[in-house]
Amino acid sequence: MPRSATVFACSACGHQSPKWHGRCPGCGEWNTLVEEARPAPAARAGGAKRAAGRALKPVPLAEVQAPAVARLSTGIGELDRVLGGGLVPGSLALIGGSPGIGKSTLTSAALGNLAAAGHRVLYVSGEESAAQVKLRAERLGGGALQVPIVAETDLEAVLATLEAEHPEVCVIDSVQVLYDPALTGAPGSVGQVREVAGRIMRVAKELGIATLLVGHVTKEGSLAGPRVLEHLVDCVLSFEGERERTYRTLRALKNRFGSTNEVGVFEMVEQGLVEVEDASERFVTEATRAPGSVVLCAMEGSRPLLVEVQALVAPSELVPPRRVANGVDRNRLALVLAVLARHGGVSLGTSDVFVSVAGGVRVDEPGADLAIALALASAAKGIELTQDKPLAAFGELGLTGELRHVAHADRRLAEAAKFGLDAVVRPGERARTLRDALRGATKARAA
Ligand SMILES: Nc1ncnc2c1ncn2[C@@H]1O[C@H](COP(=O)(O)OP(=O)(O)OP(=O)(O)O)[C@@H](O)[C@H]1O
Ligand SMILES: [Mg+2]
Repeated sequence: MPRSATVFACSACGHQSPKWHGRCPGCGEWNTLVEEARPAPAARAGGAKRAAGRALKPVPLAEVQAPAVARLSTGIGELDRVLGGGLVPGSLALIGGSPGIGKSTLTSAALGNLAAAGHRVLYVSGEESAAQVKLRAERLGGGALQVPIVAETDLEAVLATLEAEHPEVCVIDSVQVLYDPALTGAPGSVGQVREVAGRIMRVAKELGIATLLVGHVTKEGSLAGPRVLEHLVDCVLSFEGERERTYRTLRALKNRFGSTNEVGVFEMVEQGLVEVEDASERFVTEATRAPGSVVLCAMEGSRPLLVEVQALVAPSELVPPRRVANGVDRNRLALVLAVLARHGGVSLGTSDVFVSVAGGVRVDEPGADLAIALALASAAKGIELTQDKPLAAFGELGLTGELRHVAHADRRLAEAAKFGLDAVVRPGERARTLRDALRGATKARAA
């Protein structure tokens, strides 16, 4: 009987089985069997007494030839910055994001710029027809219409095209729709995605093609299936934002060629995604300055960013009352509410509380605590904290009501000063506890 070309391997213990089981016969874990291409017989002879391969000669690192490679600029400053200064030839980057966030728009625009700069590029669209991609390219303008495209989902055909065309930069949109006909799993299944990405990687590294893989994010917020991919690729970029809002942030979750601290801010407009270079300025001028509004000096990676935190406190008819957080973590809001009640004398147990970061930005750092607390206190008491300029704040709240220092205080202050916000409430000599800060905030207003 001919042997099938694939086996099912347990992702927990490595047990291999010719057919799928719901529970691994090896380790008893549920739902861990993944279809894989059967390894070549030579590779399976691992248990032999003597190694069959030829011994290699190790080379001291100092003698390794490493020609300096020029990075390819995508012409999108924010994207280049997040990548660590541009695309590295032969590298593999994964761009993840929820549906409709603008992954295709961003990658099309990047390829358009590269094509206009005279680089050989290729766009592989598995999700949209060539006609659909053309419509987007017309909207984007620039070099987007010069980008050669193939609309294909068969992995073999895509690899053959890559070898024949030998582009410098290639976009695969998306890695989850490509499939290897040798595997029976549906496109997007873990086995398929791993096989597809692995084979694309081999070809890309061999030919020195910088490859951008587009990946979808599942409902749980992780890249679908491809947690496996995160190990394989050189960079993992995550494109975030809310679809209804225009601001989008791009951040690196992993980067073998640069820092993971960089964040790019974009805005979605008719002509595609435009970079928001001075995001702080936008958010400060848009700040409402009403009670419940405080400007937070946040750090987005290595870049300071001023964003407006808004709070609304209203009498509740519900038990327990509503706690709605937009752009901040719910647990962080719960902590701030508890500290406010216990150490700040502002008890909101019978009120609905809404907190939102303006512009659809997400802040995920402890330095946001103080700004949230001030916004809530100001909303609860109906006191405006702004004079002619909005009040700015940053700092972490400790569980005993103390204010804790956060990283990059000087850069946060410098950013606030740049936009003329002189009143900044922060942990320091004058404010050691939340109470001090609340007093300071109202005084800053009176001054
Ligand atoms: N004419 C337009 N003007 C402004 N924005 C538009 C216009 N057309 C589309 N958009 C925006 O572009 C977004 C879709 O962008 P894109 O197709 O790049 O997203 P995607 O992340 O690739 O989505 P998918 O997951 O479906 O592939 C829409 O959600 C919308 O916000
Ligand atoms: Mg798309």
